Amino acid sequence: MSMQVTMSVNGEEVTREIEGRLLLVHFLRDHLGLTGTHWGCDTSNCGTCVVWLDGEPVKSCTVLAAMAGGHEVRTVEGLEQEGELDPVQKGFMACHGLQCGFCTPGMMMTARALLDRNPEPTQSEIREAISGQICRCTGYATIVRSIQWAAAEQAGTRTSVGAGSAS
Ligand code: FES
Ligand code: FES
Repeated sequence: MSMQVTMSVNGEEVTREIEGRLLLVHFLRDHLGLTGTHWGCDTSNCGTCVVWLDGEPVKSCTVLAAMAGGHEVRTVEGLEQEGELDPVQKGFMACHGLQCGFCTPGMMMTARALLDRNPEPTQSEIREAISGQICRCTGYATIVRSIQWAAAEQAGTRTSVGAGSAS
């Protein structure tokens, strides 16, 4: 059954005709062309599809696009502000938080949400925050360092964090 859905995506209102069973991850990728949100599994395990729904990180493969109607969605494409990369994005660049990059959009959306509610997370709090997400490449250490870098950057104390080869 097809239906019309309207939602805010990265601050812009969008309306599309969709099938009622369409998942939000496919709506974003296939209907809006926002392919920064990745689809990595059929079991809701990998977390590479994480976006924000009304400011909360959610796995967009677990949400029907129709359920997002009337709500605010933010994707990794909406992370930078006015052409300026978010500190989390800079942290992943500075600390080699990605290799293949497949998990990275979801990791960054989770990281941004964590730093918004807890600007100075401990390493274990960071690891807990990303525990619903899988990275096949990095072993997580560089992801944690990237998020610590971002926390220090926004607090103005970046030099006090061991960020490896970050400059
Ligand atoms: S695509 Fe794997 S958790 Fe959503
Ligand atoms: S960087 Fe490759 S899966 Fe995380």
